[in-house]
Amino acid sequence: MISDITAARDSALAEIAGATTPEEVAAMTTRFAGKKGELAGLKKQLGSLESVDEKKAAGAAINEAIGAVDSALDERRANVAMAAMAAQVESERLDLTEFVGKPTRGHAHLVTQAWERLEDVFVGMGFRVAEGPEVETDWHNFEALNMGEGHPARGEFDTLFVDHVGPDGSSGSTVLRTHTSPVQIRTMLTQEPPIYIVAPGRVFRRDTPDATHMPVFHQIEGLVVDRNISMADLAGTIDAFTKAFFGQNWNSRLRPSYFPFTEPSAEFDIQRPDGSWIELGGCGMVHPNVLKAGGVDPEEWSGFAFGFGIDRMAIMRHGVADIREMFADDLRFTEQFS
Ligand code: PHE
Repeated sequence: MISDITAARDSALAEIAGATTPEEVAAMTTRFAGKKGELAGLKKQLGSLESVDEKKAAGAAINEAIGAVDSALDERRANVAMAAMAAQVESERLDLTEFVGKPTRGHAHLVTQAWERLEDVFVGMGFRVAEGPEVETDWHNFEALNMGEGHPARGEFDTLFVDHVGPDGSSGSTVLRTHTSPVQIRTMLTQEPPIYIVAPGRVFRRDTPDATHMPVFHQIEGLVVDRNISMADLAGTIDAFTKAFFGQNWNSRLRPSYFPFTEPSAEFDIQRPDGSWIELGGCGMVHPNVLKAGGVDPEEWSGFAFGFGIDRMAIMRHGVADIREMFADDLRFTEQFS
């Protein structure tokens, strides 16, 4: 009997040691530790033993065997469960190796970078940021800016017209804005002076793209309307901006020019530390007709305005030779600025 017990225990322990899945361990638990198991069967036979000593010895051996099998099953169950969990974790592991090393973060477009820096500098000088629609009425884009129908200066803006018939049946009166200057009118019509605003935005002209032109480009407009504003305020503002944006060793100058919406008008240039000059934009004292169109009394208020291209500032800053590069979405180009 003792040898049967030992044999049953040893073969059970050997099988248990070879179990590799939770299902196998569960099946073995039934087989070796269940009521119909071999050891349970042997236990039932104890009663048929004649001698008390034999009974005692066999009972002790059976209890020892059952204990050994139980603890072997417990241990195996735990090991197998751990291995199963490890296998699951491994199979669900995310392969993150492609994110290791240099982070692949993008960056703002060069024009956006320049736009945001311009806003920062002007806000620092006390200006607020204003905006207007990209699809404009002929009135805001031209008429209110002292360019009535047939005004020769209209020809300089290669205008893109929007195919639209107005409520009054008129057509050809809706345009893609050719400059940010209509925001001057919209601001004056919605805001009492004193006004100190800049208006960055997208503008459109019927132009063939080349190294220095795009049919869609960006400008930033400035408008100041207050009491006793003079050309000296304009020149001082342009110079303060030049130094704040480009650096203390940059200078600015105004050159006489003509715009229908300013009188007098000027072009403004900036001077690099090496002494060379770059033309930046147009400016001038807001024309009385423009103030009137904006609902502002020219007897009481005066103002200045300026406008210049943002795209050119972006390519100047980074030494880009061709403006079209900025809009080609070629990674070999854009990645140079990350
Ligand atoms: N709107 C003009 C342009 O697009 C620039 C400008 C703005 C000139 C404001 C004078 C005053 O060329």
